[in-house]
Amino acid sequence: MPHTTPHFSYHDGVLHAESTPLPQVVAEYGTPLYVYSKAALLGNFDAYADACSGRDALVCYAMKANSNLAILDILARRGAGFDIVSGGELLRVLAVGGDPQKVIFSGVGKSVEEMRLALSHDILCFNVESIAELHRLNEVAGSMGKKARISLRVNPNVDPKTHPYIATGLKANKFGVAFDDALDTYRAAAALPHLEVAGIDCHIGSQLLDDAPLLEALDKLIELIDDLALEGIVLHHLDMGGGVGINYGEVGEAPPVPVSDYLGRVFRRIDAWRREKYDGAPIKVIFEPGRSIVGDTGVLLTTVEYLKKGDEKNFCIVDAAMNDLMRPALYQAWMGVQPVQPRSGVSADLYDVVGPVCESGDWLARDRILSAEPGDVLAIMSAGAYGLTMASNYNTRGRAAEIIVDGGTVHLVREREQPVQLFAQEKVIR
Ligand code: LLP
Repeated sequence: MPHTTPHFSYHDGVLHAESTPLPQVVAEYGTPLYVYSKAALLGNFDAYADACSGRDALVCYAMKANSNLAILDILARRGAGFDIVSGGELLRVLAVGGDPQKVIFSGVGKSVEEMRLALSHDILCFNVESIAELHRLNEVAGSMGKKARISLRVNPNVDPKTHPYIATGLKANKFGVAFDDALDTYRAAAALPHLEVAGIDCHIGSQLLDDAPLLEALDKLIELIDDLALEGIVLHHLDMGGGVGINYGEVGEAPPVPVSDYLGRVFRRIDAWRREKYDGAPIKVIFEPGRSIVGDTGVLLTTVEYLKKGDEKNFCIVDAAMNDLMRPALYQAWMGVQPVQPRSGVSADLYDVVGPVCESGDWLARDRILSAEPGDVLAIMSAGAYGLTMASNYNTRGRAAEIIVDGGTVHLVREREQPVQLFAQEKVIR
C-alpha cells in the first residue's frame, strides 16, 4: 500500500502535489527539491484553530519545524502565533509582518542579545528554563526599563514514549525546571522586579502518537497552578508545548491521535478544573505544534543516480543526502519512499536508499522494495517538518530548493543554494 496523503496522491500513475504533477516541477526546478502543499498546510493549521475557536487560546507554530518565510507568512495571515527558539527566528517572524504579541520564546540558552531583541519587540512571553535564566532576564529587562513576561517551563518527569533524542520531559533531559523545584523557582521569579509571572509551560517530547502522557503532564501543571494560587501567584496562561505526532506510513505504526480529539480532551479537563476550583474563570491555553502543522505538507524529491548491487545489500544512490534530510541518520527515523512515476517492467529489488555524502550514516531509507532505474525520481514522504530546517552544507552541498504548490500553481519559495555561495564568507590567509 503506497503511503500517500490527501494532498500528495497518484493520478493516472503519476504522483501529484494537489493538482500539480511532480515530474513537471522536477523538470523546472531539479532535485533535491522540497515540495509543500498550501492546502495541506492550511488544513493542518485549521484543525488546531477550529478546535480552539471561541476560546481564549493561541496556536504558536513551532517554527523550528519549518521556517521558510512563505510558510510563516501563510500561517501568520491565518492567525498563528509563533514559538521561537532564537533571535534569528524572531527576525523571520518580523520579516513576514508576524505579530510579536503572539510570539513565545523557548529554549535553554537564550543570550543577552536575544533577550534584548525580544524585549524590544515586546513579545508575549519568555518560556524560562532555569533560575540562572530568570536572573539574566530580570537584569536585561531592568537595563531596558522593561518588565519581561515569563512562563516557567516545568519538567513534569513524564515518559512520552518516543525516541530518546526527542524526549524532553524526563529528569535526565536538559530542559525545564524540575517539577519539585518549580514552586521555589516561581517564588524567586515573583520576587524579581523586572519580571511579570504570566504562565506555565511544558514540552515533554515530539512525535507522540498517544496523548495520554500529555494529559498526565497537564494534570501536573494543574496541580502546580493550584499550589501557586494558594500563595497568591496567579497564572494567566497554560502552555501545553508541542503538538501530536503524525503518520509516517511505516507498517505497524500506531495511528496518531487526531488533533481535535487531543485538544478536546485538554479543554474538557481544563474546563472541569476551572469550574471546580475557580468558579469557571477561564485560563488562556497555548499550544506549540510544529510537526503536525507541516510534517505531511511536504515531500523531498530526489533523483536516482546509480543502482549498486551487492552480495549483502543493494544500494539505490540518490542525489539527496543526510545533509538535506537528517532525520534517518540522526534518529533512525523511518520515512516513506514513493516513486513519482511507478514503473512496470523493471524487476523490484530490496534497496537501501542512500545519498552521496561520505558517511555510512548517510541513508534515507533502509530495506525498501523498489523498481527503480537511474533517472527515476523518488519522493521521500512527510518530510515537511524538520527537513530543510535541519539541513546542512556538509560536503559543500548547497541546500535544496523549496516550492509551494497551490492547486495547479507553483511558487519557488527558496532558491537552490549554489556551492560558491557556501564559501563566499570565507577568506584565505597568505
Ligand atoms: N515546543 C518546544 C519547546 C519544542 O522543543 C518543540 C520541539 C516543539 C514545541 C514542537 O514539537 P512538535 O509539535 O513538532 O512535536 N528534529 C526532531 C524533532 C525535534 C523536536 C524538538 N522540539 C525530529 O525530526 O523528529
